[in-house]
Amino acid sequence: MNSYEYFQVEALSPNIGGLVHGLDLSKGVDDDLFQAIHKAWMDHQVLFFRDQSITAQEHLDFAGMFGQYHIHPAAPYADGNPALMVIHTDRDSKRNNGSGWHSDVSADEQPPLGSFLHVHKVPSQGGDTLFSSMYAAYEALSSPMQSLLKGLEAQHVSDYTNLYGDHEPQREFPQAVHPVIRTHPVTKRKALYVNSGFTRHIVGLSRNESRQLLSFLFKHVENPTFQCRFKWQVNSLAMWDNRCVQHLAVWDYFPESRSGLRVTIAGDKPYFEG
Ligand code: SIN
Repeated sequence: MNSYEYFQVEALSPNIGGLVHGLDLSKGVDDDLFQAIHKAWMDHQVLFFRDQSITAQEHLDFAGMFGQYHIHPAAPYADGNPALMVIHTDRDSKRNNGSGWHSDVSADEQPPLGSFLHVHKVPSQGGDTLFSSMYAAYEALSSPMQSLLKGLEAQHVSDYTNLYGDHEPQREFPQAVHPVIRTHPVTKRKALYVNSGFTRHIVGLSRNESRQLLSFLFKHVENPTFQCRFKWQVNSLAMWDNRCVQHLAVWDYFPESRSGLRVTIAGDKPYFEG
């Protein structure tokens, strides 16, 4: 157990994930507590909280302490507020949001810094989310491979056509070019920043070279030693740092339902330094 000033964090794996004990977010978060949570987040990359009986407004207020709201290009939202992204899968769903490894909307020029998911309904079994540390993924690569990747950029493309039923998109589907290895702006650690959800091509490589290299990296991300797995309960909340984490939501509970709301916080343009 790691002790912070106002709470304890139980590490869920050697490389990623911390379960926070001793905090009730409905009581509010002052500046000192915010600093402690931020420090724990940077240490663990994804934090989990249980039994957080918070309203949508309290969820927005907590996430909003970390930056400006990010608006998803196409996903449905709740309460008429585009910052409250609906996460919902049931027996009529054609797909499950986030079923492949990804970093949220990495195709944005300034992709999300972090995502805060509060789950309201869980199936009787299953519906876990897997999180993979992109610091660990980078650090596990050989030095010649790290050197090759450090000089490269990749194109990220989004296409949400027909993914959200009748819901009209909020904005144009983004695309952007980002470094393959990014420097985390707070920790200064290096993280692998390509994902199978959005990354399509490595700039300057032939189609074949790019396909082979991306396919190697997408497989590399799946290594279980970089991961932790979270079992949701009603009123669990997870906050993950998209700058150094990929995640995958497991849909193994058909025909049962799972629902929640996600508030996402906008980030900076990814960069590589050193
Ligand atoms: C997502 O935000 O990609 C979905 C995560 C989840 O439902 O666990």
